[in-house]
Amino acid sequence: MAYETLIVEIEDYIALIKLNRPEALNALNSKMLGELATVLQAADANDKVRCIVITGSEKAFAAGADIKEMAEQSFVDAYTANLFGGISDAILEIRKPIIAAVSGYALGGGCELAMACDFIIAADTAKFGQPEINLGVIAGFGGSQRLTRFVGKSKSMDMHLTGRNMDAAEAERCGLVSRVVPAKSLIEEAMKAATKITEKSLITAMAAKEAVNRSYETTLREGLLFERRLFHSMFATEDQKEGMAAFLEKRTPQFRDR
Ligand code: HXC
Repeated sequence: MAYETLIVEIEDYIALIKLNRPEALNALNSKMLGELATVLQAADANDKVRCIVITGSEKAFAAGADIKEMAEQSFVDAYTANLFGGISDAILEIRKPIIAAVSGYALGGGCELAMACDFIIAADTAKFGQPEINLGVIAGFGGSQRLTRFVGKSKSMDMHLTGRNMDAAEAERCGLVSRVVPAKSLIEEAMKAATKITEKSLITAMAAKEAVNRSYETTLREGLLFERRLFHSMFATEDQKEGMAAFLEKRTPQFRDR
């Protein structure tokens, strides 16, 4: 299917979603957000997809929400349209792993989109920021909540209050991104990571994602119990039998998602 603002390729069980509004540095407008939610939901339901990668261009993952589209909006417009609520909720419902492959600017909504993915692989050119304060607004797609959980209060406050950018090295140091790679090999590295994930049991990968995400939602004690119960339930799968048998027989496991 053709999209106006996205290029989508599905190959070898990976859905590669490329944000594609180069004229506006991939600024997130309502068309793109609607298409992104649709594509993510379709990928989640597609048996030919076991991992999702979201990326942008070399210059920009996404330079934020589309300022031209927002400039004249009133409170009533934003509230009734639930501005950014749709994608924010939709991405939480995606059960397959999502990697953000970030090159260049990931600002405002772009930084927030990357953080809403399961982990971020950054090019050495990546720049992250929450510059909304310069526009007279604040983060609206999770920035004040997720950035704070990822990097702690002090740095999150710094980013939100000064509106400064963080480069890839700082982002790696403070735990915002999982790794930094040379810009020219970003997609290759992201696809390698995605391929590793496609080789796992999808059930186990989804359970691991669910368990890690739960750590943001609950107390340590509840989270530990949730993890333990999920861990116990893994023993009901054929893939647990296969994974452990393969280890003992010194061979590669053949997972069947059962
Ligand atoms: C609309 C944007 C845009 C944006 C860039 N463009 N960012 N259009 N919304 N967020 C457009 C420019 O207007 C310009 O179009 C073209 O993309 C190229 O941008 P330039 O500014 O000419 O490029 P450059 O000089 O290289 O500067 C890059 C930049 C700068 C530093 C990233 O574009 C910038 O500061 N952008 C805004 C970043 C920002 O404030 N993001 C947060 C948005 S608010 P023309 O037609 O002029 O050539 C937000 C709210 C989130 O995200 C809360 C809810 C999600």
